[in-house]
Amino acid sequence: MKILFYDTKPYDRESFEKVMPYYDDITVDFLKTDISHRTVYLAKGYDAVCVFVASDVNESIVRTLAELGVKLILLRCAGYNNVAVEAAKQHGISVMRVPGYSPEAVAEHALALAFSVNRHIHKAYIKVRENNFSLMGLTGSNFHGKTAGIIGTGKIGASMAKSCHGIGMKVIAYDMYKNPDLSFAEYVSLEELFSRSDLISLHCPLTKETYHMIDLEAIEKMKDGVILVNTSRGALISSEDLIKGIRQHKFAGVGLDVYEEEDENVFENREDDILESSITARLLSFPNVIITSHQGFLTEEALEAISKTTLENARSFMLSKPIKENMV
Ligand code: NAI
Repeated sequence: MKILFYDTKPYDRESFEKVMPYYDDITVDFLKTDISHRTVYLAKGYDAVCVFVASDVNESIVRTLAELGVKLILLRCAGYNNVAVEAAKQHGISVMRVPGYSPEAVAEHALALAFSVNRHIHKAYIKVRENNFSLMGLTGSNFHGKTAGIIGTGKIGASMAKSCHGIGMKVIAYDMYKNPDLSFAEYVSLEELFSRSDLISLHCPLTKETYHMIDLEAIEKMKDGVILVNTSRGALISSEDLIKGIRQHKFAGVGLDVYEEEDENVFENREDDILESSITARLLSFPNVIITSHQGFLTEEALEAISKTTLENARSFMLSKPIKENMV
């Protein structure tokens, strides 16, 4: 099987090249560029294409892939909202993904954001580099004894909940389904979670129901001095309302690995660009906000798991026994 990889960075290649020797029935070529109306034609002669979270595999791209004889779209991520799945089905193209690779990778990043905003690590780092050893403005609060509110207790949320429990926090949670692994957690309504939590961490998917679940109304229900962390999807939070909430001094800290405007920014070096919209700039202007660029998944272990599962998906498809739970 021949696979053309789009939108690859050096760390993608490195992790795939490590596991390639175990897949000598598969050959791959890596492209830096993402899939587009122009670059889709490079897939001629390939059996499959492999794309990532920000690749726009719309209906017209799918049609062209079908005309070029491509039979499989491999997503090297969990989400598939960026692929025209129905169109792929109509054109006889299968779509496979990596549903879970390392929940701990994302949960640990959520924790890192929570700890960093709480203890002002981002400010302390810069101050000390400037020989400013003053502690003014660096006071945090103990997480121990406080309440963590986890929204979405699937794989990542459960890992986050266990870590919070481990550092002595009371854990409350909101999900439609109770996770039996979390016997220590108290499931409550969303309203109660907002009003009781000292730390709120989002781990549910982006759906019609969860779009802007954190809006001004929700923010107003939260405790003053709450810490909000989002490693899930940007549009769970209304950025405009978040900015209003920050200006009203609602938050002790906000840690965002994802945010509404991220698509243009994600994984790109834009240091010489003038940004088209001001949401990122406004969020970055607040001293109690830390933004990272969708890097929750970025650990050696997660990358290795992504590489292996993607190539297992390809092999299972090639052997006409596609791994059912990875089919979209
Ligand atoms: P999962 O499917 O294991 O868990 C999601 C949980 O959310 C489920 O328990 C589900 O019942 C719950 N849920 C669904 N709708 C809900 C609602 N309206 N309110 C409350 N809970 C709801 O998913 P997993 O693997 O834990 O991933 C969670 C999210 O993390 C993904 O949807 C994705 O957006 C994000 N993610 C972020 C990454 C990053 O690099 N920052 C990497 C991987 C995933």
